Amino acid sequence: MMKTTKSLTSNLDLKKKRELHSIKVKKKHHSTVVIKVNHLEKSFQVSNNKIPILKDISFKVYSKDFLIIFGPSGCGKSTLLNVILGLEEPDSGEVILRDTKTYSLNESERADIRAKRLGVVYQQPTWIRSLSVLDNVAYPLILTGESRRNAINQALRRLEEMGLSKFRNYAPTELSGGQQQKVSLARALVKNPWTLFLDEPTGNLDSKSEEEIIKMLTEINRKGKRTIVMVTHNYSFLLRANRVLHLLDGEVKGIHESIHEIQQFLRNQLMPEV
Ligand SMILES: Nc1ncnc2c1ncn2[C@@H]1O[C@H](COP(=O)(O)OP(=O)(O)OP(=O)(O)O)[C@@H](O)[C@H]1O
Ligand SMILES: [Mg+2]
Repeated sequence: MMKTTKSLTSNLDLKKKRELHSIKVKKKHHSTVVIKVNHLEKSFQVSNNKIPILKDISFKVYSKDFLIIFGPSGCGKSTLLNVILGLEEPDSGEVILRDTKTYSLNESERADIRAKRLGVVYQQPTWIRSLSVLDNVAYPLILTGESRRNAINQALRRLEEMGLSKFRNYAPTELSGGQQQKVSLARALVKNPWTLFLDEPTGNLDSKSEEEIIKMLTEINRKGKRTIVMVTHNYSFLLRANRVLHLLDGEVKGIHESIHEIQQFLRNQLMPEV
């Protein structure tokens, strides 16, 4: 009798433990996978040599992640981003955006997904110089077939959210570098993208504008619940992320998935053991 009770309780304990474990796992990766990168390999042909740039890269991006891809200059960050965006075909491996295998699509289908579903901000924004700030922000929507009226309304809303509506009739190049980068954020967000991608977005900015942009990104991620993938070699951003992918010489050196792990990684980066 005792034995049965005991084995019953230990069964219950086991069940509880399993439940707890599954809650923990769910908590850690609270949401669905939005990007899957599987065994990517990419090389560039330089004269007669094939130079490997990305080597067996695999990772996932979860909905509402603020993922930073961190690594030194030349390690392959922008190349990786371009492959994820569908701009550079890999030698092998796959990129899955939601349920779509990017490279099973043709180039124009990939361009269509990029135009409608992915927001991108680069270090140096490019503008249609003949258009105002407002028209530049509205342009991605007009390109995807939205009526001009809707596009302009949504662009204005984005500019207002960022405190930029007073600049709507300026030419983008009349704004400071920091203001231009905020406008390019508004332009990337206007199509309500699945994921916002940024490649070294504050690389050309002074530290005050840099701080403003990174604060905006934190809000866009936390309050706006937008998934963000940002490429940078800047240490000072790491603690804003919930996950950090460390890229070194074209390889994933580690993925740090909690504030504790990121702090530890940052300490090791700043004070490497001798
Ligand atoms: N089109 C190309 N043809 C040949 N080599 C290339 C090409 N694009 C990138 N590379 C090489 O791939 C490597 C990685 O470049 P990448 O631009 O991805 O680095 P990164 O990590 O973004 O650097 P940074 O922080 O300086 O922007 C570099 O050695 C670069 O010279
Ligand atoms: Mg780069």
